[in-house]
Amino acid sequence: MYTLVMTGATRGIGRVAIEEILRTDPDLHVVALVRAHGRTEFTEALAEFEQRTTILDADLASIGSIRAATAEITRALEDGALPPLRGIAANAGLQFVDALHETTDGFETTFAVNVLANHLLLRGLESHLRAPSRIVITVSDTHFGDFRHTGGMVPAPRWAAPSTLSRPGAFENPATVAAGRTAYSTSKLAAIYLVHEWARRLPDGQDIVSYNPSLVPGTGLARAASARDRFVNRWLLPALAITPIVDRAPAAGRKLADAILGRTPAPSGAYIDRTRMVPSSDESYDADREHELWDFLDEQFTRSIA
Ligand SMILES: NC(=O)c1ccc[n+]([C@@H]2O[C@H](COP(=O)([O-])OP(=O)(O)OC[C@H]3O[C@@H](n4cnc5c(N)ncnc54)[C@H](OP(=O)(O)O)[C@@H]3O)[C@@H](O)[C@H]2O)c1
Repeated sequence: MYTLVMTGATRGIGRVAIEEILRTDPDLHVVALVRAHGRTEFTEALAEFEQRTTILDADLASIGSIRAATAEITRALEDGALPPLRGIAANAGLQFVDALHETTDGFETTFAVNVLANHLLLRGLESHLRAPSRIVITVSDTHFGDFRHTGGMVPAPRWAAPSTLSRPGAFENPATVAAGRTAYSTSKLAAIYLVHEWARRLPDGQDIVSYNPSLVPGTGLARAASARDRFVNRWLLPALAITPIVDRAPAAGRKLADAILGRTPAPSGAYIDRTRMVPSSDESYDADREHELWDFLDEQFTRSIA
C-alpha cells in the first residue's frame, strides 16, 4: 500500500480522477484535502472506498489551514497510520472575474490557491516522500496565451516580480474579467515554473510533472463567470468535444488519473498535454524566473513555520 495526497478532488476533473485511481489501483490510499462545505457530499460519494480514503479539511487559500493539514498527514505517516507517501496530486485551482480577491494572509486568491498552496503542500510533505514517487500539478494551456490554445477566451500571462503578482491589483484594470483571467493564465505559467524548479531539487526517483487537461467545459472552474459565460461553458463549448481542443470531464479526469499513476510516461519536469509529453510555451522555460519564484514562495513557507 502507498499514500497519495490529492487536492481538488471534490468535483470536476479531480472527482473523476480520484474515483478512477481508487477503482483501478487497489494498493492506493488517498488523502483528499477538501473545503468543509463539500465534505459531506464527497464523503458519501466515496463511501465504497472508505477503507482507502482519508478526507481532511483544508482551505488552500489559507496558509494556516495548509499547515494544519500537512502536520496531520505528517503525524499519520510517522505513526504508520498511513502507508508510505509516494504521490501528490495538486489539482485544485480556481479562476475569478477580477484580480482583486484577497486571502486572509493578504495574497491575491488566484495566486494563493494555484501557486502558493502547491509549494506549501510540497514543502510540508517532501521529507516524507519515498521513491519512487510522482508529483503532478494541474496547469493549463492558457499559459501559452495564443489563440490556438485559448480560443481567445483567456488573455496571455503577464509576468512580473512574484511579490507583485501575488498581491491584489497586480494586473491592469484589476476589477475586470480580463484581469481575473490574466491572473489565471499567469498563475498557471507560475505553476509550470514551480514544476521546473522542483524537478531540479527533488532527489532521484522522485518526479514532478505538469498536467494540462486542455479546455474542459462544464466543470466548476467557470462558476464565478457571468450568466452568459456560464451558459456558453455549460451548453455550447461541450459541443467542441468532438474537436481535439476540448475534452469533457470524464475523459480529462481519466487522463489526469493516468498522469498521477505514472501510466503516462514523462520524465521529471515534463509537461503532459492530456496523454503525451510535449514542450510547454517558450516563455515557460526561464531559470531566472523559476529561481526568483521559488525564493519568494519559500520565504512564505519559512515564515509559516517560524
Ligand atoms: N476546466 C478547464 O477548462 C480547465 C482547463 C485547464 C486547467 N484546468 C485546471 O484543472 C483543475 C481542476 O479544475 P476543474 O475544471 O475540474 O474545476 P472545478 O470543478 O472548479 O474543480 C476545482 C477543484 O479545486 C478545489 N478548490 C478550489 N479552491 C480551493 C480552495 N481554496 N481550497 C481547497 N480546494 C479548492 C475545488 O474544491 P471545491 O469543491 O471546494 O470548490 C475543486 O475540487 C484546476 O487546477 C484548473 O485550473 C481546468
